[in-house]
Amino acid sequence: MSDINCVPRHVAIIMDGNGRWARKRGLPRTAGHQRGGDRIHPVALACARRGIEYVTVYAFSTENWTRPSAEIAALLHLLSTRIGSVARACLRDNLRLKLLGRLDGLSPESQEKVRGAVEMNAGNTGLTLCIAFDYGTRSEIVRAARQIVSRGVAPDAIDEELVSANLYTAGMPDVDLLIRCGGETRLSNFLMWQSAYAELYFTEVLWPDFGATDVDDALAEYARRNRRFGALPDGASSQ
Ligand code: IPE
Ligand code: IPE
Ligand code: MG
Repeated sequence: MSDINCVPRHVAIIMDGNGRWARKRGLPRTAGHQRGGDRIHPVALACARRGIEYVTVYAFSTENWTRPSAEIAALLHLLSTRIGSVARACLRDNLRLKLLGRLDGLSPESQEKVRGAVEMNAGNTGLTLCIAFDYGTRSEIVRAARQIVSRGVAPDAIDEELVSANLYTAGMPDVDLLIRCGGETRLSNFLMWQSAYAELYFTEVLWPDFGATDVDDALAEYARRNRRFGALPDGASSQ
């Protein structure tokens, strides 16, 4: 990646395919989630080394509460038990951890662990790694609307900037590149406001197998895209 303009500032990743990765190996789905959890820090570090400033990973959606209770329990347990080691690895590599979404589905002890892990990295200055947990765009926008209304903001004073400032991602750049692993070609309620003009990249690679080479493949494809944001293509005349 020689041209710095071709490197996205914010990459969002839908970490899909953990269950299929496990099934292919005759393992329980939770083994896929564990392995998937182990991929987060290495992929974020690979992104940091390529000049990316923000990586947001989708760890648990608001719709994932419809899964069987044993799988939900395993996912919640995984977050609260692994977040500490992810945070320590981030501390070593100067990555900042941030959480998007809600924690109130976790026990008070687990919430404390997650908050402690995030605080551990508050002073870091490198790439920001956002973990989207109990996150969904629709509930994020409802929350933003409630915050705005509860402050008594006049309707005319509500603009796109104000809505953005009331999202979990306040202060962050919009998503430039959205990667979905696992072969599905949908957004599943992930960062849909922030990805309004993101380049979408879908890959069959299952998240537990995703690594630095896959980051490079996605970045190479991103560099080939022509982002127009509604304008005419380069060199086109309006005749
Ligand atoms: C993604 O993997 C992880 C979460 C949604 C929490 P899946 O669990 O959706 O794995 P597949 O799609 O069934 O393979
Ligand atoms: C999206 O994956 C959510 C996460 C990766 C956390 P899902 O497996 O839940 O998405 P759908 O149900 O296939 O759309
Ligand atoms: Mg899935």
